[in-house]
Amino acid sequence: MTVRWPAETIWEAVSPLLPTFSVEVLPQIDSTNSELMRRARAGQLDPVLLVAERQSAGRGRLGRHWASDDAGALSSLTFSLGLPLSPADWSGLSLAVGLAVVESLHPDLRLKWPNDVWLQERKLAGILIETVSVGEQRYAVVGVGINILLPRAQDLRTPAAALCEVLPEVDAAIALGLVAVPLVRAILRFEAEGFAPLRTAFHARDLLYGRELVCSDGATGMARGVDAAGALLLHTENGLKKISSAEVSVRPAPAASNNGS
Ligand code: BTN
Repeated sequence: MTVRWPAETIWEAVSPLLPTFSVEVLPQIDSTNSELMRRARAGQLDPVLLVAERQSAGRGRLGRHWASDDAGALSSLTFSLGLPLSPADWSGLSLAVGLAVVESLHPDLRLKWPNDVWLQERKLAGILIETVSVGEQRYAVVGVGINILLPRAQDLRTPAAALCEVLPEVDAAIALGLVAVPLVRAILRFEAEGFAPLRTAFHARDLLYGRELVCSDGATGMARGVDAAGALLLHTENGLKKISSAEVSVRPAPAASNNGS
């Protein structure tokens, strides 16, 4: 399948913001994040958008595998944006990235803290941010994987959603055209201003607000949004708790009593 990637259009819009920026599309690679991390460690620190039509060893958060669906060519969009970054405070970057992704794609998309993109009660996209220090500079690699079509094999742990459910005409190239430039702008804005100005916008997309959660550290409580640094606020029986890093899941509602009344 030949795809018309909007590489030129993206390059024209981003070059004035990042002068040495380039766009690269590869038919296959192990992982776009791994490749940009390797390049950065080898001293290649120019800003780049690397798109892979297929990943053989895609990586997710917490060391998980990010599957490429072999069923349909380009049933997902996988890319990484690499760039030198020096914000005063890194906290909240992943939320800022997630927000840029949902806002550029569709009003119905929501964020499951910190940066999973969900549609209704299913996961539609994932984000993996890694950084590497090279001399005085820190290079950030922001990897994004978006389901364009529904994967044939559904991982039961997290049911999948796809962008075609809300944008029926979409394909991977169209999705890249929607998301790439807003993502670069959002990251540069984050570098200059941090997360605090994005807090209200995050709350408007917050999947978890007001829901009972269980955290991987055992804490339970009701989600109350995020603070100015992007930490999750959890209303627990011991008061408000700030969660900066944990996995959270929605607490299943107690089973309805079955007494026939
Ligand atoms: C997650 O939800 O666990 C994050 C998934 C991130 C997947 C993307 S696909 C493009 C980039 N390359 C990778 O190997 N991972 C990220």
